[in-house]
Amino acid sequence: MDRLVGAGFYQEDSGEAHIRPMLLKEYIGQQKVKENVAVFIQAARDRKEQLDHVLLSGPPGLGKTTLAAIIANEMARPIRKTSGPAIERPGDLAAVLTNLEPGEVLFIDEIHRLNRTVEEILYPAMEDYALDIVIGKGPSARTLRLDLPPFTLVGATTRPGLLTAPLRDRFGIACRLEFYSAEELGEILLRAAGILNIKIDESGAREISGRARGTPRIANRLLRRVRDFAEVKGDGAINARVARLGLEMLEVDEEGLDNLDRSILTAIIQKFGGGPVGLDTLAAAVSEESDTLEDVYEPFLLKTGFLQRTPRGRIATPRAYNHLGHPVPSILGEGHLFAEED
Ligand SMILES: Nc1ncnc2c1ncn2[C@@H]1O[C@H](COP(=O)(O)OP(=O)(O)OP(=O)(O)O)[C@@H](O)[C@H]1O
Ligand SMILES: [Mg+2]
Repeated sequence: MDRLVGAGFYQEDSGEAHIRPMLLKEYIGQQKVKENVAVFIQAARDRKEQLDHVLLSGPPGLGKTTLAAIIANEMARPIRKTSGPAIERPGDLAAVLTNLEPGEVLFIDEIHRLNRTVEEILYPAMEDYALDIVIGKGPSARTLRLDLPPFTLVGATTRPGLLTAPLRDRFGIACRLEFYSAEELGEILLRAAGILNIKIDESGAREISGRARGTPRIANRLLRRVRDFAEVKGDGAINARVARLGLEMLEVDEEGLDNLDRSILTAIIQKFGGGPVGLDTLAAAVSEESDTLEDVYEPFLLKTGFLQRTPRGRIATPRAYNHLGHPVPSILGEGHLFAEED
């Protein structure tokens, strides 16, 4: 995820590989999505048909890549991975498609970043397992249709709204991943701790899961950092006290907000009078990319009610003022709220 440099805790790292669940039954939470996917997989298997194309959307670190691999495993099919920005020209995608083995799962990460000309190759490929090649130019140009092996496209995106309608409509199955509850994250942590041989008690797991922003990747990352802390400053075991000290050192507060989250809210309150402030202006004020703010930071701040999006920009909510220890302006205290933007 080249674009998300600077987004620290959200980026994938090498430590993720061992603890990725491989089967649907190891995938914790996302009950609705799991039930649906299980039914569709079962039905496709019983009919000996190719599973329909699947679109997975949701903020970073919620388990889209993991679920794509699980779908291939459960179908007992190989998986080939690529990403929107990696496919620059139509020919690149044509090469990938013609090299697929029959029944293979093709995973395209960040599918909203495919460019238009590449995307158009996908339409007949998804609909008819066919590739349309234009030969020649001008009036004598002809289209040649090549058959492709059947395949399942699994697309992942943090920004489903940026997908074009024709592409979105060609996915037979669309799953939206939601933030996880603290209980689910606790389960995920205990599972990961077991695999990594980390000693942690339930109170320690609760402390970390409550501050992991509803995100498994962050929960697992905090677990490994707190373990470092426990080994250097204690006997290696993680309990509530050690977890709390470790998280304080990492500057992750009780709500799970990190430094950048707090800078965003502080900037809105102190530099922009509480808002509304436009995304680009806000991004410049905290020296971050607008995309990173919108994809990575905002979803959680919106969901937890620290931030609100209005037609005229972002505003800090009374909750943000309280959390950061600023007096709540009376206009907000009276319950005056701006209309929500879609
Ligand atoms: N439901 C789950 N149960 C257990 N662990 C999970 C679950 N979902 C995700 N994880 C863990 O979280 C990590 C991050 O998940 P994953 O890489 O699939 O996220 P992603 O949605 O693809 O993120 P990105 O948008 O950044 O690509 C995985 O390594 C995995 O260990
Ligand atoms: Mg991913």
